[in-house]
Amino acid sequence: MKTRKLGEQGLTVSAIGLGCMSMTDIYGPADREESIATIHYALDRGVDFIDTSDMYANGRNEELLGAALDGRRKDAVLATKFGNLRLPDGKTGVNGTPEYAQAACEESLKRLGTEVIDLYYLHRVDPNVPIEETVGAMARLVEAGKVRFIGLSEAGASTIRRAHAVHPLSAVQTEYSLWTRDVEAEILPACRELGIGFVAYSPLGRGFLTGAIGAEADLAEKDRRRDMPRFTGENLARNLGLLASLRTLADTHGATPAQVALAWLLSRGEDIVPIPGTKRPQRIDENAAALDLTLGDSELAQLDATFPPDAAAGLRYPEPQMKRLGI
Ligand SMILES: NC(=O)c1ccc[n+]([C@@H]2O[C@H](COP(=O)([O-])OP(=O)(O)OC[C@H]3O[C@@H](n4cnc5c(N)ncnc54)[C@H](OP(=O)(O)O)[C@@H]3O)[C@@H](O)[C@H]2O)c1
Repeated sequence: MKTRKLGEQGLTVSAIGLGCMSMTDIYGPADREESIATIHYALDRGVDFIDTSDMYANGRNEELLGAALDGRRKDAVLATKFGNLRLPDGKTGVNGTPEYAQAACEESLKRLGTEVIDLYYLHRVDPNVPIEETVGAMARLVEAGKVRFIGLSEAGASTIRRAHAVHPLSAVQTEYSLWTRDVEAEILPACRELGIGFVAYSPLGRGFLTGAIGAEADLAEKDRRRDMPRFTGENLARNLGLLASLRTLADTHGATPAQVALAWLLSRGEDIVPIPGTKRPQRIDENAAALDLTLGDSELAQLDATFPPDAAAGLRYPEPQMKRLGI
């Protein structure tokens, strides 16, 4: 398995990771045993960069990982996150206070059944708490040996700079894929200037770029994507038109659209690590094989032309959640 460095503090991970969010029902029902088998298969193949959050299924996702990593902890580079809340009324909230950072970390360690988190992210920036205070608390978790490296998720460029001045960030995790290229304007350049690694989440466009979703009816009744503007009505119909050239390019290489989407991301820089999500062991090899798929300059130019930064119709999150991004 090829590896990539994240940041300048010594964190090295498999060049493609595994996102575990959908192992607890967010994109339709997930099977616990198959999910655990997926994690084991990934680790067997050297896909060691495993991503979760305390928010996913209110901690149940971390518990699932804890069970999967029992006896396998040393094989994994384990990343989790805090500060993004699902409130009892179903709405989302944030908490970046130092006290909460400390308490959330203790809870995550328990659920994950581990003594140390390899990479601990602030999941969403709390606009009511200076980032210096939140990152100061994260630095104390590093000093206490509970966390090895720290990062931010969905933070704006100026927040990244302020945070990095308090304690070096090893990674910033933000959505990045062919149909979501917002980070190219300011966030990725800031990370590069500061020597911070970039973790690309939803690198398959939440499944859209695989070509597997042809209509809203393809999504399960409680699939979260039904609330996402890009997956609904006229937006989805328009977005589906983007897939033809991806399919053609994939056919040229005897590859799948998912592999082309990941190969494109990997070509954007050695500092980028995509974390495709899957709950099926057979996808691990397919996604990892993107590391061996090299796209030519004219093919990359063709993808650039089909997927300019504003290519997708519709917001990438429902309107209220958009307010929590890029702070
Ligand atoms: N920091 C944040 O705020 C944030 C937000 C969202 C996600 N994330 C992280 O990023 C990870 C990945 O993002 P994501 O799961 O939202 O989206 P994604 O990786 O873009 O897409 C996942 C979807 O693609 C399908 N898929 C995966 N490989 C495939 C393949 N080769 N062919 C066809 N379908 C394939 C999966 O279905 P199957 O399971 O059926 O394979 C799943 O429905 C998450 O697990 C999570 O860890 C972070």
